[in-house]
Amino acid sequence: MSDNFLYIDAIRKKPVKRTPIWIMRQAGRYLPEYMEVRRKHDFITVCKTPELATEVTMQPIRRFGFDAAILFSDILVIPEALGQKLEFLENHGPKLSPQVLVDRDVDALSLDGIEHKLEYVANAIKMIRGELAGKIPLIGFSGSPFTLATYMIEGKPTRNFKYIKRMLYRDPERLIRLLDILTEAVSRYLIMQIKAGAQAIQVFDTWGGILPVHLYESFSAHFMKKIVANLKEYDVPVTLFSKGGLELLNKLSDSGADMLGVDWMTDLNEAKKQFGEIAALQGNMDPTALYGKPDIIREEVRKVLEVFGKDSGHVFNLGHGILPDIPVDNVHYLVDAVREISEELH
Ligand code: CP3
Repeated sequence: MSDNFLYIDAIRKKPVKRTPIWIMRQAGRYLPEYMEVRRKHDFITVCKTPELATEVTMQPIRRFGFDAAILFSDILVIPEALGQKLEFLENHGPKLSPQVLVDRDVDALSLDGIEHKLEYVANAIKMIRGELAGKIPLIGFSGSPFTLATYMIEGKPTRNFKYIKRMLYRDPERLIRLLDILTEAVSRYLIMQIKAGAQAIQVFDTWGGILPVHLYESFSAHFMKKIVANLKEYDVPVTLFSKGGLELLNKLSDSGADMLGVDWMTDLNEAKKQFGEIAALQGNMDPTALYGKPDIIREEVRKVLEVFGKDSGHVFNLGHGILPDIPVDNVHYLVDAVREISEELH
């Protein structure tokens, strides 16, 4: 079955008839049908109710015919399963409490029964696979240990990451202990997702780029490499998405990941030159280019697609998640442009 998946074939560098496309945060607030569901149910309820998570996962597939679906959930369900309280405050984003600050806070986290606590995710995956009926693959995901640690320590989205960086420089053993716990939690969670039916995995290292490059290996890349190694025997393609350019991609190039996500600030040509042999690449149109008029969107799509031409090893995506106020019509232009131009180039 998976032999016919464009997304998987592109990662495996098999010949493809066109470049596959999906977009990060493809299920979400820019879709009127998503907002309709959200009027009736809060975000966490949608994540925890397999029927709702399935419906929302399928919405962008029905509308745009993307080449992969991504499980509807959030990276922060892991800190919740470890014992922190998770809330999504309207217009303020996520809140985790109490913050992980001292040794006692790390000691309070528990890996016990984590698969059981996250069973609703496995149930959603099974239901989504039924709904997809083998037409396109389902991507499961997690945050990276470092990215999860930023939210667990800061307690909320922040600008300067003061608490995690203070811990890194003052009590590095404490941070490492937390990252070890998270590495086990993420590995077990992703194995659970694969067993439930996830056919590919993406790890979001959204905040690894706030580290100085010389610390990236010991506080972020190292733990993702362990996760990739823990997943190896399951033989599903693993993508590592980081935001931090060529230097971070370089640090991930020996990770054993099948695909590396490229952010929009990075030159895709250069990324292909340096890492195209080692891994497939995903990306990297600027998400804000979707504010542009149709001909601008087309031009930006062409720039990205021409880097690979008819070469396999590329999955079209944005360089980060789609923004909530992007007009839906512009996403239609995007998908049409990717199809047309990539068929023309192949
Ligand atoms: O890609 C997809 O469509 C799958 C679903 C998905 C969500 N979050 C749904 C979501 C995925 C893969 C994520 C990952 C995620 N969540 C990341 C890593 C990826 C990235 O974008 O960097 C991070 C850092 C989070 C944490 C998070 N979740 C924040 C900071 C916020 C609030 C900020 C915001 O964008 O509103 C969320 C909420 C969230 N996660 C929403 C969705 C659809 C919006 C919730 C709503 O409906 O109000």
